[in-house]
Amino acid sequence: MQIVDLIKKKRDKQEHTPEELKFLIDGTVDGSIKDYHLSAWLMAAFIQGLSIEETTELTKLMAYSGDVLDLSSVPGIKIDKHSTGGVGDKVTLVLAPLVASAGVIVAKISGRGLGHTGGTVDKMDAIPGLRTDLTIDEFLHQLKTIGISLIGQTQNLTPADKIFYALRDVTGTVESLPLITASILSKKIAAGADIILLDIKYGSGAFMKTFEDAKKLSEMLVTVGKKLGKSVTTAISDMDQPLGFTIGHTLEVIEAIETLKGKGPQDLTKLCLRYAAILLHKAKKVKTIEEAEILLKKNISNGKAIEKFREFIEAQGGNPDVINNYDLMPKAEHHIDILSEHTGFVTQLSAIDVAETAKLLGAGRDRKEDKIDLGVGVELKIKRGQKVNKGTLLAVLHANSLKHIEKALLLIQHAYVIGDKAPLNPPLIKEIIS
Ligand code: URA
Repeated sequence: MQIVDLIKKKRDKQEHTPEELKFLIDGTVDGSIKDYHLSAWLMAAFIQGLSIEETTELTKLMAYSGDVLDLSSVPGIKIDKHSTGGVGDKVTLVLAPLVASAGVIVAKISGRGLGHTGGTVDKMDAIPGLRTDLTIDEFLHQLKTIGISLIGQTQNLTPADKIFYALRDVTGTVESLPLITASILSKKIAAGADIILLDIKYGSGAFMKTFEDAKKLSEMLVTVGKKLGKSVTTAISDMDQPLGFTIGHTLEVIEAIETLKGKGPQDLTKLCLRYAAILLHKAKKVKTIEEAEILLKKNISNGKAIEKFREFIEAQGGNPDVINNYDLMPKAEHHIDILSEHTGFVTQLSAIDVAETAKLLGAGRDRKEDKIDLGVGVELKIKRGQKVNKGTLLAVLHANSLKHIEKALLLIQHAYVIGDKAPLNPPLIKEIIS
């Protein structure tokens, strides 16, 4: 078999056999297929698409291209959650302890962020001492003892996805529904959980810009997941404006802790409660979603949820005192107030502009090797739909270096669009597909 024949076949819109896809993935992992051939194949697949059968086969081959975790030694149903990436998306930090506080095991392998979307592993770095590089044995031990562990991607999990993703990132082939499906699901299958919730974001701050594309992706993820014997639920949620009020690592950890204490922003709290309820219901912990929400709200008000987060931090070597003393985390030297230049209603708050502002302050990366500043970011004071006067405090920039501050000030002003009429706020969770 020759890779060039596979490229020509896909270029001409023909369907690959399972043997051809195996040749492609084996050659990707052992290095016998060169990057230029892979890039050409990825572009052909991007343009011509892959059938559901091809996507399913590719997902399976990618999932088994490296280690696949066996969680069977951990008793009980294990859940996992993944987001396609958003701005201010600290859902995992709230959802994981919340679900674990109700007795369902959360086994999650998270990524670092790239570009404007922050990763959970980077956020956890703001907690002093917290390790995200546990060995698989440590990971399993922690699941058995406290029912929750969040770690970074281990070296040999889905190596084919790592190679594909790095090439897609630089060849304009990220936004392909079958390639995203294979990328996300292969990682989830390799991570071994029984129940998977995928948060599909749409809007200016997401990969999927429209609800229609997010819906198509959701349907493909559920269909392929089912064919591979996995219980996959997708929730399509709004990412046109950031989630919660904070963007930046320490700032987001603080907001997650506040949410677990019952003092979080309404949108973040609502999303986390709903997702956690879906997971408890899927794990058969409760009979109805309503029953689950009552239980979860109780665990927030009686302190069980924040206590689970404390246990988690301690088990992974972090300093649990951060829960009551936010000064233990890195923070920024300068705080710059952003005031409204107009009177009216905030009709738009662009998630991508806010993310780019935070990145200019040092909270994001352009390249994998870039170092991020954990203490900086954007604290929003006003969100979409609120009324403002000229001079109202819109946001506070948390900065250390003032190198790009002029550009950051322009961008954050640009993020807020102020008009005469209150906008119609779209629902936070638009659809759930199971
Ligand atoms: N997230 C992933 O893990 N993979 C993709 O291809 C896109 C989003």
